[in-house]
Amino acid sequence: MKKFIHDFEVTRNHHITRDYFALYLKCPESLPEILPGQFAEVLVSNSASTYLRRPFSIYDVDIEKNELSMLIKKVGNGTAALSNLKPGDTLNLVYPLGNSFSLPSGGKALLIGGGVGIAPMLLLSKLMNAKGFASDVLIGGRTSADIIEPEKYLPYGNVYVTTDDGSVGEKGLVTQHSLFSGQISDYSAVYACGPDPMMKAVARVAATHNIPCEISLENTMACGIGACLCCVVETVEGNKTTCIEGPVFNTLTLKI
Ligand SMILES: Cc1cc2nc3c(=O)[nH]c(=O)nc-3n(C[C@H](O)[C@H](O)[C@H](O)COP(=O)(O)OP(=O)(O)OC[C@H]3O[C@@H](n4cnc5c(N)ncnc54)[C@H](O)[C@@H]3O)c2cc1C
Ligand code: FES
Repeated sequence: MKKFIHDFEVTRNHHITRDYFALYLKCPESLPEILPGQFAEVLVSNSASTYLRRPFSIYDVDIEKNELSMLIKKVGNGTAALSNLKPGDTLNLVYPLGNSFSLPSGGKALLIGGGVGIAPMLLLSKLMNAKGFASDVLIGGRTSADIIEPEKYLPYGNVYVTTDDGSVGEKGLVTQHSLFSGQISDYSAVYACGPDPMMKAVARVAATHNIPCEISLENTMACGIGACLCCVVETVEGNKTTCIEGPVFNTLTLKI
């Protein structure tokens, strides 16, 4: 897929909670096709200590407004600087990067997001709905403050929530949710993005039930274009770059 580099205009910086915000960005040209799971490398020009571009999943695409959005959690200098952007500011993106989630062959899919790992699941649930596939979304977090915009998924399927402390939804880890003890084998495919231990646990359950499972890895990246090899992951077919051959991998191909 062709890559683009564009100066986007910030149309909205939605501060959702203390740590999470969503940037809405208008493209100066017609947006190209963007697939669920793809990401952008963002130039953080308003932070003197952030030299390398930072990777963020594409959260949503609004073709009518010619906008895309990114859901971001503040974890360091780069994300803190991005949280200060105002409408009218400019943000330079290289995009759309990486591969994408594949659609299931049929049945109902389960989409799982842990914390900000929920970001690539919105576009996936939208596409599945548009293509006539049913899907449920399971959102996990440490507390209610990590359950971000669950209502956005409601037009596309059922939404389930779990938190470590039980402050919203069921109490416990995502793999302890009642979906896993009950109907998990009814799902035809599982997709997950979030902390590594969560994705490994999901992959193990999916393998036990012979359910195809894809996860999106959030390895540290530098170049984002396959040149520096800092994002390499071990697979059964040898080492692969997360930025070009990922970030989405079938879990049976990963050495995890
Ligand atoms: C393909 C991909 C998609 C991503 N999508 C999103 C997204 O949609 N929303 C979002 O908020 N973040 C996403 N990330 C993570 C995001 O890139 C990092 O949080 C960001 O680069 C941190 O920049 P910083 O300058 O604020 O923090 P830094 O100063 O670089 O780091 C601060 C802290 O964050 C940790 N950190 C840095 N990078 C990562 C990472 N990739 N994963 C986990 N911890 C990290 C560091 O270890 C350090 O402890 C994605 C990463 C990848 C590779
Ligand atoms: S980030 Fe440089 S090769 Fe992937």
